[in-house]
Amino acid sequence: MKYSLLFAALLMLTFTTIAQDGKTIHVGTRHTDLIFKVGNDGRLYKAYLGTKLSDNTAFATSRTPGHLAYITAGTDNLFEPAIRVTHTDGNPSLELKYVSHTTDNLTANITHTRIVLKDDEYPVEIILHLKSHAAEDVFEQWTEIIHHEKKPIILYNYASSMLHFDAPHYWLTQFHGDWAEEMKLQEAELTSGIKIIDSKLGSRAHMYQTPVFFLSLNNKSTENTGELIAGTLGWSGNFRFLFEIDERNSLRMIAGINPYASEYTLAPDKPFITPSFIFTHSSQGKGLASRNLHRWAINTGVMDGTAQRLTLLNNWETTYFDFNEEKLMAMLDDTKKMGLDMFLLDDGWFANKYPRNNDRAGLGDWEENKAKLPNGLGVLTSEAEKHGVKFGLWIEPEMVNPKSELYEMHPDWILKLPNRPEHYYRNQLVLDLTNPEVQDFVFNLVDGLLTKYPGIAYFKWDCNRMMTNTYSTYLKDKQSHVYVDYVNGLYKVLDRIRQKYPHVPMMLCSGGGGRVDYGALRYFTEFWASDNTDPVERVYMQWGYSFFFPAVATCNHVTSWGKQTLKFRTDVAMMGKLGYDLRVNELDEKELAFSQQAVENYSRLSDIIWHGDLYRLISPYDENRAVAMYVSENKDKAVLFSYTLNARFGENFNAVRLQGLDPAKQYEVKEINSFPGIRGLFMQTTRYSGDYLMKEGLRVSNDMPLSSAVIEITAQ
Ligand code: DGJ
Repeated sequence: MKYSLLFAALLMLTFTTIAQDGKTIHVGTRHTDLIFKVGNDGRLYKAYLGTKLSDNTAFATSRTPGHLAYITAGTDNLFEPAIRVTHTDGNPSLELKYVSHTTDNLTANITHTRIVLKDDEYPVEIILHLKSHAAEDVFEQWTEIIHHEKKPIILYNYASSMLHFDAPHYWLTQFHGDWAEEMKLQEAELTSGIKIIDSKLGSRAHMYQTPVFFLSLNNKSTENTGELIAGTLGWSGNFRFLFEIDERNSLRMIAGINPYASEYTLAPDKPFITPSFIFTHSSQGKGLASRNLHRWAINTGVMDGTAQRLTLLNNWETTYFDFNEEKLMAMLDDTKKMGLDMFLLDDGWFANKYPRNNDRAGLGDWEENKAKLPNGLGVLTSEAEKHGVKFGLWIEPEMVNPKSELYEMHPDWILKLPNRPEHYYRNQLVLDLTNPEVQDFVFNLVDGLLTKYPGIAYFKWDCNRMMTNTYSTYLKDKQSHVYVDYVNGLYKVLDRIRQKYPHVPMMLCSGGGGRVDYGALRYFTEFWASDNTDPVERVYMQWGYSFFFPAVATCNHVTSWGKQTLKFRTDVAMMGKLGYDLRVNELDEKELAFSQQAVENYSRLSDIIWHGDLYRLISPYDENRAVAMYVSENKDKAVLFSYTLNARFGENFNAVRLQGLDPAKQYEVKEINSFPGIRGLFMQTTRYSGDYLMKEGLRVSNDMPLSSAVIEITAQ
């Protein structure tokens, strides 16, 4: 009884201490308002996050209860905190009061707000940072923690963002998977208590859970209806999203680095900066949220997002480790013949004492293998130049095989536990990127290759294992720093690479899509979505990625996984960044002609696919087909992809209403990527108004299982 009274009193404290004339802090975008308010208890509250208000002055005077914006542990908080610290004197509490805030206009579109909070009793300062991207309706939020105590303090929890919601129901959409089965969508209603989506894998951190979610308020959201938040963490390591529904049915969302095994000893005067939580609010469903994130990613979130990408031929699935100079030269011919921009040489080109002829040896020894490449990489880069194509190279710089010279020379550079047997995954171990010497080694690998071979135009940067038996010789008594410092060490290397080579395109790969996040995509131009390139599987995966990541960054290759027609495989790969990983010399005449035409079509349309607006029209999760379209920003051009996955007896696929076009414009509608002998959808090119296409729609689905259509739509 006593406890419940105390509890009620605490709640009253939380909800009723808003000053009549409280100071408000407004962080808005074009269609969203995020409003904070200082209570008369001096604490900071989040007063509003939602659709833009025509008048937001009411928050200054209203008694609307808010929720504390960044809840601390150790005093009166009863639920999961955003931050938990222990001070130098052992006191395990923190109390934050508002001190000041500033807002800078970084550009006409981007503002940066800093809200400074301080503990009255201890010299600890928390700065909440918010960047708002007005046109894209996207916020980035992160936290800076700094203190001036005499000795270090310990950070146990250090969220990037905490947001509160009040709705009758909350629906969470999450994406999980494994190697070759990335981005599987699940949606469920949240119930009281805590739901966590997280990773404890360290490297290859997103192998089982991708750091993205939709949180729908009230009802399940659809593509075009419903209020929701789409969120993602820009961090290439352990992350955690926590959703807690309390006894009043309020939801507290906490996003940030996973505090698991990661207490951080923070020295005085040294800021600890968390990664960004990136989020957008939509009151018109998931489609708009994705378009907001894509636009932000293209403009800001992805390295060189507005630029062009290179189509490519990769040798991984056709040769694996078994190649020589002659085979590669023939592939340069194939690259040219197909009309592709670049040849990408994958794993297996390096190491001599322990040659990289399989995945059991050689990782870490980055000299050309003399048996396979007696004349080195130089002959390939210059031959590529003669062919008028570019040359790209695979590396996996963070890893080492026990069978390697690197392992023999630097056992102390490897993350592994003393007094325990080594634990391998894909026969390899993780290098200790917390160690500046290892950072130098990784930087020097890239720098050395680019210095020696300026003709290298692209890297595929792989990372094929997670951390286990994790222990850093370098970190000594600070083992709980390893997960955080590893990622920051990786970013330090990438920063150095980008300072020296600002625009060399790089593909982020992690045994397929085991590391896909906007922390890494600041440095990478694209990511490898999955090793599974069976186009049916890919339709679902690409659908999943498309909710949060733009097509310009999503690498899709045409391969021989799956038994579908070459047309189906090509049409599926074309909905992102197109590449090939198949034996061009085994294509018959029709297949080669079709592929050359498809590459040409792709070059004509890629700008719309990469930089246009995506409308997902029919989800493969709802029907036996998938239909999506990209529309150029000026609505002059669109390209629609339609995939029939299955067709039951008597199945009737309705006409699909297009979206995103200009109703007043006339459009020419033309089927492309036709394959000789495969029945197309349209006999002829036709004209329709945008109004008709969006209200009546088009029949875009073939009723043959595993068939597809690509439709080019051009304003007249
Ligand atoms: C895993 C990647 O996902 C593949 O594409 C390929 O590069 C292999 N690693 C090479 O070992």
